[in-house]
Amino acid sequence: MKNTLIAPSILSGNFASLGNDTANMKDIGADWIHVDVMDGVFVPNLTFGFKMISDLRAMSDMFFDVHLMITEPKRYVERFVKSGADLVSFHIEAENDVDGALDIIKRSGCKCGLAINPDTDVAAIKPYSAKLDLILIMSVFPGFGGQKFIDGSLERVMQAKKIRDEYAPQALIEIDGGINADNAASAAMAGADVLVAGNAVFGASDRAKAVRMLRGEQM
Ligand code: DX5
Ligand code: ZN
Repeated sequence: MKNTLIAPSILSGNFASLGNDTANMKDIGADWIHVDVMDGVFVPNLTFGFKMISDLRAMSDMFFDVHLMITEPKRYVERFVKSGADLVSFHIEAENDVDGALDIIKRSGCKCGLAINPDTDVAAIKPYSAKLDLILIMSVFPGFGGQKFIDGSLERVMQAKKIRDEYAPQALIEIDGGINADNAASAAMAGADVLVAGNAVFGASDRAKAVRMLRGEQM
């Protein structure tokens, strides 16, 4: 099996001890750290912003995969880059000037990604594909951790893979929402290069083991 990257989502951590949880990610064998930013408008939930990310940056040198679930992200993407993001993704549904926002991220020296909701046509990413470092396929409606994986999401990963292979060979495909030890292997088989996992990691008594299971390694 190919080497799938595991990106635990700190949304499922204890917000009163996110610094420790973040610092601990390397020890448990995670590849990336997935950071969910929510504005209470694009999604019906609020998390945190720039200061949290720059404070966490001081706790870890790992790859910060920042997933913006905010309206008109173009207004803020540069500040997220400056806060210490290694990759900034935003939702295609949330921005009128997708090209402009992607350009700001890239110009700031950061990798960029586009996220798409479960009810958005995957083909919508096509016009932007040449610029993308990441295509983020949501397998739940964004807003909360711990939701059930939406059936049909793997077909969407396969569609994204087709687009990637044809128009964006540089881009990785990430799947986010409801990923666990039971569906991780099929998500990777469908074409996901990066698996985000919140509850499957933070809800486990042995987080390192949870990461290994998601990667398809034996205990
Ligand atoms: C949902 C977030 C996800 C979420 C994943 O809006 O984007 O990253 O935290 O959590 P699980 O793996 O628990 O679905
Ligand atoms: Zn996310």
